[in-house]
Amino acid sequence: MGRFRMRLKLNLTAIEYRADPFTAFGRLRDMGTFVPARIPLIGNLWLATTYDAVNDVLKDDSLFCRNPKNAGRRNFPMLQLMMPGLFRVMAKNMIGMDEPDHRRLRSLVDQAFQRQSIDDLRPTIKQIVDDQLDYVEELAKQQNCKVELIEHLCRPVPLAAICQLLGLPAEDQPNFKKWFNSFTRIQSVWGIVKIVPGMSKTIKYLRHQIEEVRRNPRPGLMTALVEAEQAGDRLNDQELQSMVMLLLLAGHETTVHLITNAVLTLLQMPDVRDQLLADWTLVDPAVEEVLRYCSPVQFAKPRFVTTDTEFHGHSFKRGEVVMPCLASANYDPHRFEQPDRFIFDRPRNYHLDFGAGPHVCLGLKLARAETQIALERLFTRWPDLQPTFEPSTPDWSRRLGMRSLNSLEVRAA
Ligand code: HEM
Repeated sequence: MGRFRMRLKLNLTAIEYRADPFTAFGRLRDMGTFVPARIPLIGNLWLATTYDAVNDVLKDDSLFCRNPKNAGRRNFPMLQLMMPGLFRVMAKNMIGMDEPDHRRLRSLVDQAFQRQSIDDLRPTIKQIVDDQLDYVEELAKQQNCKVELIEHLCRPVPLAAICQLLGLPAEDQPNFKKWFNSFTRIQSVWGIVKIVPGMSKTIKYLRHQIEEVRRNPRPGLMTALVEAEQAGDRLNDQELQSMVMLLLLAGHETTVHLITNAVLTLLQMPDVRDQLLADWTLVDPAVEEVLRYCSPVQFAKPRFVTTDTEFHGHSFKRGEVVMPCLASANYDPHRFEQPDRFIFDRPRNYHLDFGAGPHVCLGLKLARAETQIALERLFTRWPDLQPTFEPSTPDWSRRLGMRSLNSLEVRAA
């Protein structure tokens, strides 16, 4: 226990991590490459803080595994106790698995998220965005030009896109919005408990949808997964439920905050907006820089040390937990020159906001496409879109692990 006596009380939900992340994460890196911390429900762990350490932890899955059993630990006993049903479904999810199970499951869905499939989906995404912007325009007329964009654009677009890709009925989307509402406020253990009812309703609904698809196949990825399950040895029933739940959650919640942070960036930096308005082919590198500069996902999932080892000058014991801090890596001056500047044509912008290694984000091409299209369609319709708040002090949320806003109200005139 001696090595944990120095454990610092880091408050990672403190507002300075949102308001001035460059200074706050710089202080964290100054404390060391691996900083001892304590996180609700996960417990004592080491935060990886530098670009090289984060990248290497994520890529070395023989030393840093995802399934705690492979490091001689029990599978989060507190979580199992607090939410047994939910835990059973989520535990069968590929993001918590190591090879070969992880590869077996990922190979079932990889194709649907490759470049060609996402390019084929672009016209649909454009239609989803345009329909939503028509609605925003109507609202603006009724509300003296003021519209809250998270609720009316940034959330509906990724939710509609992932529902379309899975083959879930569009008319059920308002239910998800209700059920997912509590997810956006996780700041503490109590916040985690509050998501249980919404999660349980979502699982029940998805079980029902899977049954429907078994009876009547319909276009979409869910049918392909049901067929894989029926074919025999590649996917079992619980893995199927977990997969659909994972894709639905991972496929929309993160992207909401990427679109929000991207819109905020253009509102804060009119010179960047003007360069894009003059040439929308620049939107690709601009979205990459938003991912680095505003890192919506601040941490990767915890990894478990499989064997006593020396790594980046630090000695680890088997079973210890390491959490890679993606935001800190993205602001590391040893990797990115002037990390606190938004340079949208930054050369070799290999940020880590989608992770790295075997669990690198499955949906990165989808998230990029949605954000690029949303920015282009929004600012082409309202080139002079203005925030209704002081742009240098937006309403940051204290949510753990996400760099997100509570609201993004604009004047669409
Ligand atoms: C801004 C948007 C997004 C960000 C920043 C993001 C970030 C990440 C990160 C950091 C990981 C790795 C976690 C780890 O290794 O611990 C990950 C994994 C994953 N993401 Fe994303 N994600 C985004 C959007 C999406 C979308 C649109 C989907 C669509 C389904 C998606 C599906 C997944 C899945 C399934 C995994 C697990 C992959 C595996 O275990 O092999 N994500 N994401």
